[in-house]
Amino acid sequence: MSYDVTLIPGDGIGPEITEQTVRAVEATGLKFAWDVQMAGMTAVAAGLDPLPAATLESIRARKVALKGPLTTPVGDGYRSVNVALRKEFDLYANVRPAVTIFPGRFDGIDIVMVRENVEGLYSGVEHFIRVGDDPRAVGVSQAIVTRYACERVIRYAFEYATRHRRTKVSIVHKANILKMASGLFLEVGRAIAKEYAGRIECNDLIVDNCAMQLVLRPEKFDVIVTTNLFGDILSDEIAGLVGGLGLTPGGNIGASVALFEAVHGSAPDIAGKGVANPSAQMLAAVMMLDHLGELAAAGRLRRALVATIRDAGIRTRDLGGTASTREFGDAIVARLS
Ligand code: NAI
Ligand code: MG
Repeated sequence: MSYDVTLIPGDGIGPEITEQTVRAVEATGLKFAWDVQMAGMTAVAAGLDPLPAATLESIRARKVALKGPLTTPVGDGYRSVNVALRKEFDLYANVRPAVTIFPGRFDGIDIVMVRENVEGLYSGVEHFIRVGDDPRAVGVSQAIVTRYACERVIRYAFEYATRHRRTKVSIVHKANILKMASGLFLEVGRAIAKEYAGRIECNDLIVDNCAMQLVLRPEKFDVIVTTNLFGDILSDEIAGLVGGLGLTPGGNIGASVALFEAVHGSAPDIAGKGVANPSAQMLAAVMMLDHLGELAAAGRLRRALVATIRDAGIRTRDLGGTASTREFGDAIVARLS
């Protein structure tokens, strides 16, 4: 059998890292029918919408997508394609695993961030208030938090922990100050934690303390679940702990559709030079294989990547090495076949 997956190579370094990722995924022996679609600047350059209807249709039909980074066109009338995709398919959980691969400042880090992906301070409920003749004297951005969204993302975190044999979930909040929006998240979190008592340990931390604890004792963390903005900030902090954006993948999970991507952007400064690190995109593919239930293939690809970087010392420029994107891909393929 073969898996039907929408493939969006994307902009900038997207096509380069996607090419090597596809080679790596296929080297696991699994068969894929890639439906290649455009989005972002690549679509605009072809005279299409940044998020063409055909791309949406492809994802809707296949339910699984592997996406390269997209450059959001600067200028009026363009909304972020990434945000639009999350909204379109109600991709309510953003899952970002971060594991030490490249020995860096911290060793032994293995943290999964589950971030609420569609509401909170990203709800877009914003306005200015006029005072006197200043129409923008006051800016208001509201955090909308629903019990429904709290429940599904927190439950996802506990189910993820269960499925991946993890032992602890940390609920991160600011309920001491944001008594309603963050208070509701904590309240729902504590209630769900009770259902998993005895199986999954649960604690809760205020976000500022969490930010500090992550730097002081990152090995204490396992799965973290939090609201949109806190998740945005903390997941970049966690990426920094394991060596930066070149190594961090993300999954955007909805009830029906799942979309996997690298966390980094289109890196216009190095696009077309063949030096980009395809690791994050390959790790996004590992998450996709996991999602498809291909746990063995996911494990093999992940181990091939770790061995290539850590043991063989084959590294791209961003990790201090000299390997090109293609040479790195060659090394992964050789290890898998
Ligand atoms: P960026 O992540 O593209 O680049 C930041 C720095 O990291 C650059 O110096 C870049 O060369 C380097 N870098 C990133 N990925 C790398 C890789 N795989 N290998 C080696 N070096 C890498 O962030 P930036 O410059 O802020 O954004 C560029 C564009 O990407 C923007 O249009 C932005 O909107 C878009 N973007 C798209 C995302 C997505 O589609 N998920 C996420 C973040 C940004
Ligand atoms: Mg961010």
